Amino acid sequence: MTTSHSLLLGQLRQAVGAANVLTQGDLSAYEQDWRKRETGKSLAVVRPANTLEVAAIVKACVAAGVSIVPQGGNTGMVVGSTPDATGTQIVLSLLRMNSVRALDGGNLTVTVDAGCVLQNLQEVCEKAGFLFPLSLAAEGSCTIGGNLGTNAGGTQVVRYGNTRELCLGLEVVTAQGEIWDGLSGLRKDNTGYDLRHLMIGSEGTLGIITGATMKLYPLPVAQLTAMAAVPSLDAAVQLLGLAHQHLSAGLTGFEVMGKFALRLVTKHFPQQRVPFQDSDAPYCVVLENSDQESEAHARERFERLLEVAMAAGCVLDAVVAESITQARALWHIRESIPLAQAQEGLNIKHDISISVSRIPEFVRLTDAQLEQAYPGVRLVNYGHLGDGNLHYNVQAPAGADAEAFLRDDEKGVNTIVYDMVDQFKGSISAEHGVGSLKRDKLEHHKSPVALGMMRAIKQALDPQNTMNPGRVLRA
Ligand code: FAD
Ligand code: MLT
Ligand code: ZN
Repeated sequence: MTTSHSLLLGQLRQAVGAANVLTQGDLSAYEQDWRKRETGKSLAVVRPANTLEVAAIVKACVAAGVSIVPQGGNTGMVVGSTPDATGTQIVLSLLRMNSVRALDGGNLTVTVDAGCVLQNLQEVCEKAGFLFPLSLAAEGSCTIGGNLGTNAGGTQVVRYGNTRELCLGLEVVTAQGEIWDGLSGLRKDNTGYDLRHLMIGSEGTLGIITGATMKLYPLPVAQLTAMAAVPSLDAAVQLLGLAHQHLSAGLTGFEVMGKFALRLVTKHFPQQRVPFQDSDAPYCVVLENSDQESEAHARERFERLLEVAMAAGCVLDAVVAESITQARALWHIRESIPLAQAQEGLNIKHDISISVSRIPEFVRLTDAQLEQAYPGVRLVNYGHLGDGNLHYNVQAPAGADAEAFLRDDEKGVNTIVYDMVDQFKGSISAEHGVGSLKRDKLEHHKSPVALGMMRAIKQALDPQNTMNPGRVLRA
């Protein structure tokens, strides 16, 4: 260890207490990404308790020329929250900053520390009689700071928008260690550049989010969930159109799941009962209807929608949950897909968005190209169809060595998928972000003008390249 590194560790211990500067023992929870794609080595994992401590850490690191990787729950999908292998970066874990600071029912806002786990925030809001609608399968471990850092999507975007749309204000420690208090809670503020939106989705490369003011909604009076078997993706898109028409703002979830994705759930979690397993339907859809009137009203509208959809031939069969337990079980099937896929082995993930109406054509063309280039390849296709966002994932052929498949074929598979995304004017990252996994791809798929503006922003706000270097943009 260099003298300047030892000096820095001493300063960090002074700032946050020796017990919160971790340098020894098993640090894999902080140094390995969730998908186990990469394992890094940190100089230290530093765990501040408040914003002033974060500012002190940043100032000390800037002075020592040491870079910082902000980390929340470390559930990100694109290798963005773990250190590189050099042993010279600090992981700044926000997990100790986990308080809900204030809930303002009149303003329909909640102000929260960045390290607050999403599920804890949802529960606090619900107890107070409000809905915080952000919802994703990692909610038991991901943090609101990580959600903002990635502009996370999840399963309620069709009604409430991405994390960006739910955020009214931020508190940020800048790359110089200054504190910007932007926790306004205002719904209107046109005083120049919107710094909040610059920070959201910047994946820790421009500053550290330490607090946020988020929007709340009234709790729905009734919430119904259904699962429908559909004869094709075109039919699923047709069903989405009907659901918008019949449920309007009541439509709070619309997820699609391919047959093979569902098979992986039954294979790895045999205790789950997955409807329509014996049917020939190539896709199933989970729909959610939230209603402000009554359960009877919600059921009536939902049943009418399904009747119309069956008559139009876009639904083969459907089940409507009769209880909260049954509704949870249907959602659990959908949310288990990433875990089942991880158990099946290493895989290539694509988190793409395309205009909803063009998704069936995209899938037809891309499936055909991949099957021709990589015979036997297994396509795990599921995702947030209501938002035009597919997790169009690729698993090695059955029995093949997954590690070798990724080593030899990931590049070729990605080229086929992302070139097709370009042809459809889509995006190569709908909700997971760029991290280091997609950084080089971004160079090819984002316009040079846009990349130039992004580099100018990074240079202006973080000229020393302290904040998460090499993520989103090349260092
Ligand atoms: P981390 O993984 O710790 O960090 C993610 C990025 O944000 C990193 O670049 C990090 O440096 C940065 N960051 C973290 N905290 C801060 C901060 N305070 N200030 C600045 N930057 C910060 N994502 C979706 O969008 N939709 C889904 O439906 C979804 N489902 C998932 C399901 C599973 C089972 C899993 C494992 C992941 C899923 N994800 C999903 C991905 C992941 O959960 C989200 O990206 C989440 O927002 C990450 O939060 P985190 O606290 O774990 O952040
Ligand atoms: C999901 O929607 O389940 C997530 O974004 C995670 C994934 O893609 O695996
Ligand atoms: Zn997703």
